[in-house]
Amino acid sequence: MTELETKIQRIADEIAAARRIAVVSGAGLSAESGVPTFRDAQTGLWARYDPMELATPEAFSRDPETVTRWYDWRRGLIAQCTPNPAHAALASLQSWAASGSAERPRPSVTLITQNVDGLLQRAGAHDVIELHGSIHTWKCTKTGELLDNPPLPFPEYPPRSKAGGRLRPCVVWFGETLPEAALTRAARDSAECDVFISVGTSAVVYPAAGLFHAAAAAGAFTIEINLERTSASDAVDIMIAGRAGEVLPQIVGRVTGG
Ligand code: OAD
Repeated sequence: MTELETKIQRIADEIAAARRIAVVSGAGLSAESGVPTFRDAQTGLWARYDPMELATPEAFSRDPETVTRWYDWRRGLIAQCTPNPAHAALASLQSWAASGSAERPRPSVTLITQNVDGLLQRAGAHDVIELHGSIHTWKCTKTGELLDNPPLPFPEYPPRSKAGGRLRPCVVWFGETLPEAALTRAARDSAECDVFISVGTSAVVYPAAGLFHAAAAAGAFTIEINLERTSASDAVDIMIAGRAGEVLPQIVGRVTGG
């Protein structure tokens, strides 16, 4: 066995023996789908805008039209992307886990993501904890009413709800707090899991970093899959440097026999 195969087998064994698994993902999970990250250079029309200055409550109150047009541009790019084998592997890990029985118990799988693109769900994953919200859900700033998959593009900018309030994407902007229910569940499931997998996240941004530390402190077996080493790499039990879309299918295939 190569070193990589040995690591993959060890991870598959840990997963098969676990009672609870938590997976936290970041932009790297969607990289192979071509979803542009914040840190990617802005292109075309938007090249002169700084995303860090568009994704803020201040920008939205100052210039809601520009901010919502920018989000529509991102929605359009995401609509053209498709889930990659990493998304599919996590979705199939979840369905494998769900098909357990009393005689053949299987672990629970909690999927936590910082991505707002909805690609895990499009791959068939369910009950995904979206720490930074979703670009596919919009909210009326007057009534709080939620709108799933509004028209793309909107018929007017800035878009308004039926109640006349401005619509904003349900994503967490810089300076905003994370959705409390999502954060509470993510923190609980990370602290209670026996296997914790961090995939495609730089692990520097709170709370992903905090979730890893909570899992490690509670004695979970910790795994990191990332193209490159991160600040978590020295602390995890196993680090695999590679593409999520290549590594995850191998691990999940080993677990599910697929
Ligand atoms: P980052 O852009 O910080 O990190 C992405 C990570 O994915 C990097 O560590 C890459 O090495 C890794 N990576 C890239 N391609 C990969 C691949 N094919 N397979 C595996 N790993 C790969 O993204 P996040 O950690 O998600 O915040 O950043 C978290 C948050 O910071 C974002 O959600 C955003 C940003 O500022 C908000 O929107 C509030």
